[in-house]
Amino acid sequence: MAPILSGKRIILGISGGIAAYKSVTLASRFTQANALVDVIMTHSAAKFVAPVTFQAITQRDVATDTFEFWHDAGRLRIGHVALAHAADLFIIAPATAHTIARLALGLSDDLLSITALSYKGPMLLAPAMETNMWTHPATMRNVQILGDWGVDFIGPAEGRLASGEVGEGRVAEPEEIFEVACKVIGRGGPLDGLRVVITAGGTREAIDPVRFMGNHSTGKMGVALARAARDLGADTVLVHAPLAVHPPGGVALVPVHTAYQMYAAVMEDLPQTDVLIGAAAVADYRPSASADKKLKKLPQQQIITLERTPDILQAVGQRRGNAYCPDPAGPDRQRPRLVIGFAAETNDLEANALGKLKRKNLDLIVLNDVSAADSGFAVDTNRVILFERDGNREDWPLMSKEEVAQAILQRVVARLGRLNWQKRRP
Ligand code: PMT
Repeated sequence: MAPILSGKRIILGISGGIAAYKSVTLASRFTQANALVDVIMTHSAAKFVAPVTFQAITQRDVATDTFEFWHDAGRLRIGHVALAHAADLFIIAPATAHTIARLALGLSDDLLSITALSYKGPMLLAPAMETNMWTHPATMRNVQILGDWGVDFIGPAEGRLASGEVGEGRVAEPEEIFEVACKVIGRGGPLDGLRVVITAGGTREAIDPVRFMGNHSTGKMGVALARAARDLGADTVLVHAPLAVHPPGGVALVPVHTAYQMYAAVMEDLPQTDVLIGAAAVADYRPSASADKKLKKLPQQQIITLERTPDILQAVGQRRGNAYCPDPAGPDRQRPRLVIGFAAETNDLEANALGKLKRKNLDLIVLNDVSAADSGFAVDTNRVILFERDGNREDWPLMSKEEVAQAILQRVVARLGRLNWQKRRP
């Protein structure tokens, strides 16, 4: 679920291309997220998919005609004005070359373009057309004009096109459009202007070219945190080891494999990082040497010597000063405003978590009992206990990982407020 969309009014504009059929899935996705979806179709779009399909999916009227009136709070209002003024987000998917050109010229010769001209909020376009149309200087110029006005674009992707040819011009997938829509609508949220870096997944330490030491992390918890940060307006970075789930859209992805690579990626971003959340299960040890050829079976024992990897959170947590209150020791000592860790424990839960909070100098640690069937690795739920630096302890009930992530990010917002944090942007 994406609570950011709940109760929001979205205009879903559909222009005439075969990709219009994909917008049925998109309309359904938004409706399931409790958004109110007002579909506007051009006359050519209505030749590809019948308006009644969208009506059934959204359980709302579908508009195609400029001269339609709109029922709004007991009043009869001019359709395009009522729709444009009520909307929180305007998406056009698919956006054809013709529709993009009309928007860039400010034309208003059908319901979609006149509503777009009457609308002032965030707009997201998902272009779909033949490669030559997309790369044509006229289309590129129109995209540039709209981009300069603050319109967001997603895609087009490369792939098989309606003509049977392969090239750039395929509309983005509904799930990608959905994810980027969450980011666009979340802009200006309480974490706007902040950079939140999240680590996720289980690192892999090579034994030889075909084997590695790993763990059971799927990345579900870290991915949920990244979505929650993005939806609150943060500039979100996900430094992730291999994931068993789809990475979120609208988030900068930094794929890594090993603990050392994750350490390097986190350190590289550190000068810009405002909040670091470590949800990754990072290997504490790696083979001292990784064989460059596949190890063969031996009759006797095979002994692998291990060496320590860097502790990422400890290295960051123990820094002093931050971007807002620089430490005299210099910029290489900067610490993010908040450093948050997870503790994956099977025994002595509280003592181990408190030990990590102190040793790594964290602001907050999220303890999960990974021996419980409904918590920790791989499952969709988590039961966590929060320990804060000031001694505060909170036991949260069993929740979905999305809910846990949203609650943690709300705590980030509250803590930054308590620290009287100033947004970096003017
Ligand atoms: O990915 P999922 O399948 O959804 O599972 C979620 C999870 C169980 C992986 C997650 O909820 C979780 O507990 N992540 C932390 C796992 C872990 O490695 O915990 P730890 O107690 O060993 O480490 C404590 C903290 O230090 C963690 O924030 C960890 O990211 C960090 N760490 C650990 C070792 C190391 N070398 N560097 C680190 O930064």
